[in-house]
Amino acid sequence: MDLDTALASVESQLHTSVASDTSLLSEASRHMFAAGGKRLRPRLLLLAYSAAGGPELGQAVPLATAIEIIHTASLIHDDINDHSELRRGRPTINARWGTTVALLTGDFLFTKAYQLMAPYSSQVNAALAEACVALVEGETLQVETAKAGSLDRETYFRIISKKTASLFAAAARLGALQAGAAADTVAALATYGYNVGLAFQIVDDVLDVIGDPAALGKPVGADLVQGKFGLPALTTPTAMRETVAALAEHLVNNGTIEEALRQAHKFAGRAATALDLLPPSSARSALIALARSAVERDH
Ligand code: FPP
Ligand code: MG
Repeated sequence: MDLDTALASVESQLHTSVASDTSLLSEASRHMFAAGGKRLRPRLLLLAYSAAGGPELGQAVPLATAIEIIHTASLIHDDINDHSELRRGRPTINARWGTTVALLTGDFLFTKAYQLMAPYSSQVNAALAEACVALVEGETLQVETAKAGSLDRETYFRIISKKTASLFAAAARLGALQAGAAADTVAALATYGYNVGLAFQIVDDVLDVIGDPAALGKPVGADLVQGKFGLPALTTPTAMRETVAALAEHLVNNGTIEEALRQAHKFAGRAATALDLLPPSSARSALIALARSAVERDH
């Protein structure tokens, strides 16, 4: 099975795996899946499987589906926490069906992901569970710091390493473990995923300030207004945070955005370097390209 076929298979499994006689849960889940999304985590998992020498990509498809389902569950819960009304150009579940249905759809998806994981090894299951714990810790840390109204660089990196990089690292780790790779290969791919995740989240935070809402499918500035500052806004005076346009202008003019993007490039570079340990292959090249595309994007 090639990558495109495996990704198409993930896409259909996303839809079939959320079948339920409680049709609201299927409808709400499919509402999210049908909106698209970059499917970066499943792509990364499948490529990691191949780059680590996995013989049959089909064996990794349910894992790739599970990781995208978990990511989707976390976005649904995040949209409740952030009071977001638009995601991927569509109303969020909380906007369309209310907070309770959004909460339950997230719970449903989270559980469905573990149904897909059940046939896999305890090592693979433990790696994903560890990332899920980190996701919740990262989101909680973010809520705490937003309430406190202050965020330093160290805490920012703790938050993004937990809420984003951990799942990217898990995607790569799961692919490598499923391929039966040696411990150093598993570690190299996990390092790759972790650094891609950091780069990805920094760019996400940059786009939350200077992005185009039409390309993003969500409004810009929403997190900032709620006190959830990313790397680009750490040093901004409080008064400036009030209007997003003024903030964006300030951050572009004083070079903060450029500096944040430089950091993102640094992490993408580290990701690519981690792959030096692996033998050359088309999957390894595709992973290097994926690290670059996590930074060079407008949505
Ligand atoms: C998006 O961040 C949110 C996350 C990366 C993680 C959210 C995690 C939870 C809600 C914990 C629950 C986890 C599970 C497994 C159910 P963002 O707000 O910066 O991005 P956005 O602008 O796209 O909303
Ligand atoms: Mg959010």
